[in-house]
Amino acid sequence: MSEAAALKQQILDLVRCYYESAHQRASFEPFTTRITYSGRVYDAAEMVNLVDSALDFWLTFGPYGERFERRMQAFFRARDFVLVNSGSAANLLMVATLCAPELDGLLRAHDLPRLRPGDEVITPAVTFPTTLAPILQHRLVPVFVDCEVGTYNVNPHLVEEAIDPRTRAIFVPHTLGNPCDLAVLCDVAERRGLWLLEDGCDALGATFCGRLVGTFGAMSSLSFYPAHHITMGEGGGVVINHPRLKKTARSVRDWGRDCWCDPGKSNTCGKRFGWQLGELPLGYDHKYIYSNIGYNLKPTDLQAAIGLAQTEKIEQFVAARRRNFRRLYEGLKPLEGYIILPTVDPRANPSPFGFPITVREGVERAALVRWLEEANIETRLVFGGNIVRQPGYLDIEKRIHGTLAQSDRIMRDTLFVGVYPGLTDAMVDFVVERMASFFQRG
Ligand SMILES: Cc1ncc(COP(=O)(O)O)c(C=O)c1O
Repeated sequence: MSEAAALKQQILDLVRCYYESAHQRASFEPFTTRITYSGRVYDAAEMVNLVDSALDFWLTFGPYGERFERRMQAFFRARDFVLVNSGSAANLLMVATLCAPELDGLLRAHDLPRLRPGDEVITPAVTFPTTLAPILQHRLVPVFVDCEVGTYNVNPHLVEEAIDPRTRAIFVPHTLGNPCDLAVLCDVAERRGLWLLEDGCDALGATFCGRLVGTFGAMSSLSFYPAHHITMGEGGGVVINHPRLKKTARSVRDWGRDCWCDPGKSNTCGKRFGWQLGELPLGYDHKYIYSNIGYNLKPTDLQAAIGLAQTEKIEQFVAARRRNFRRLYEGLKPLEGYIILPTVDPRANPSPFGFPITVREGVERAALVRWLEEANIETRLVFGGNIVRQPGYLDIEKRIHGTLAQSDRIMRDTLFVGVYPGLTDAMVDFVVERMASFFQRG
């Protein structure tokens, strides 16, 4: 073993010891320990990978990133998996890809045409801001449809009604990991000739009819922010299912370049100085030819190193989330007179991000939130509520199909608590007890 390799071994052994002594979790004290709605769950493996990557000092997207991509591609059995630096970047990448003029030359006659400014995209009013923002940034017009209390997803029956001659796409989040009705959405998209994009940021591991959520749309996004099912700090990814979007999505992520060299490589195509594209002179360096309007959406290899260790834990994390969800559901069932519990399509197996609750008429959400927070139980609202009422989105160009009454209700009356794998049974039971005591106060 070289001196460097031996030193590295010693450092990584020390990291394992450090993890054991510095990162052990404190025991749970009701009212004192904060029961967060989410959190990173990790062990020495993530820290070892991170330090290993730091010692290699590759820094930019590199070997760990590539391994992470291959592992996630295999997980989804997808055409490709493109790692980016956030779930928001993943959503941006999907929309930018569908708008790329390059697609005119790549899509076949039986494919749908690319998106153009003024095209409409059907999307629910209860959404995450950066699911909507890329639609607006690409001068597409969102068509808002109402959501359902219970699933907190788009009401699938409104989607077809909302289509008009300018409609070209459907873009839906699987809210809090509960799959949308993908049977209806795929059928409408197929029959009416619409692109289907999934925002699967909250739903890693969820299935619909036994098939993984994220494999139904042309593309689907994921977030690896610490609140999500697996984390790399900041991170995200795009599952590519459509066979002709892969090249463009990678290009848009990587500055919009035409070149497809892996990191550190320079002449993969074998004719780096032999291209003539656009109005550039013959032989212009392929590394600097831009066939798309792109960005740099890549994470660092340090982030990917953490993510790679997390991929080993997907199954156990999803199982723990489902278990906590079930425990909360059973515990809160006696309170159904006061609160609406989440509903799940019998064909769906959610990979829960949180446990949503809607208070019934006569119950004040703010009072319940205060009651929980006073006991150190963290709560969250369902993201932007009815997004059209958010200050930054009041003046956007949009179409609203029908009323958004249920979305308004969700904005007013819904909250969620955590189910993440870091919660113990004692913590979950305390959430149930505290919730019950709110309604028993008299
Ligand atoms: C449904 C949904 N989409 C997109 C995002 C954005 O992900 P990120 O925070 O990684 O940018 C989130 C984040 O929570 C989300 O819940």
